[in-house]
Amino acid sequence: MTILFVNACLRGEDSRTLVLCREYLASRGDDVAEVNLASLDLRPFDAEMVARRMAQQTAGAWDDPLFALSRQFAEAEDIVIGAPYWDLSFPAALKVYFEHVSVCDLTFHYTEDARCEGICRARRITYITTCGGFVEGANFGYEYVCGIAKMFGIPETRFVAAEGLDIVGVDVEAQLDKARAQLARLD
Ligand SMILES: Cc1cc2nc3c(=O)[nH]c(=O)nc-3n(C[C@H](O)[C@H](O)[C@H](O)COP(=O)(O)O)c2cc1C
Repeated sequence: MTILFVNACLRGEDSRTLVLCREYLASRGDDVAEVNLASLDLRPFDAEMVARRMAQQTAGAWDDPLFALSRQFAEAEDIVIGAPYWDLSFPAALKVYFEHVSVCDLTFHYTEDARCEGICRARRITYITTCGGFVEGANFGYEYVCGIAKMFGIPETRFVAAEGLDIVGVDVEAQLDKARAQLARLD
C-alpha cells in the first residue's frame, strides 16, 4: 500500500515533527507519496480561482491539473499528516492545501436528498505534531482535521503529539521518545 504523506513541516530539516513523521513512515515499510507543502507553495483560493474551478467542475474537466491534489487525496488508502502546532492550530499552508483538496464530486458530494457525503477512499488519517508548550487537548488544527475527515468519509483519525519542546528545562528527547512510543503502538 502507498501512504500519502502530507508534509506541512515548514521548517524542513530543522523540524522535530518531520523527524517523527519520517521515523513512523520508515517503520511502516510501505511506499510513501509525499506532498511537501513548503516546496509546493500553494496559493489560497481567490475569486478568480474559485470561478475557474467551478467552470471546470461544471464541464467535468477532471483531468485539469487544478484537480490533481484533490484526486490524489481522494484516491489515497492511508494518509499521514505532519504539521507543527502553530498558533493553536497548524501552519496556514495546510489549510490552503485543504482548499485545493476539497472539491465537490472528488472528495465529497451531495446526495439526492441534499446530504453532504464523503467519497474519499482512505480508511484513516494519522496526524503527527509537536508543540512548544503543553497544549492539553486544545489542538484546534487536529479538531479541524477530524471535521474534514468526517466530511470526506474517512472513518478514523488518530493523533500523536510531542509536547513542551520549547520549554526551558524540558527534556526534549524524552518528550520525543514518548511520542515515538505512542507511534510504535499504532497498528
Ligand atoms: C509560527 C509559530 C507559531 C507557534 N505557535 C505555538 C503555539 O501557539 N503554542 C505552542 O505551544 N507552541 C507554538 N509554537 C512552537 C512550536 O509548536 C514548536 O516549536 C514545534 O515543536 C515546532 O515544530 P517543528 O520543530 O516541527 O517545526 C509556534 C511556533 C511557530 C514557528
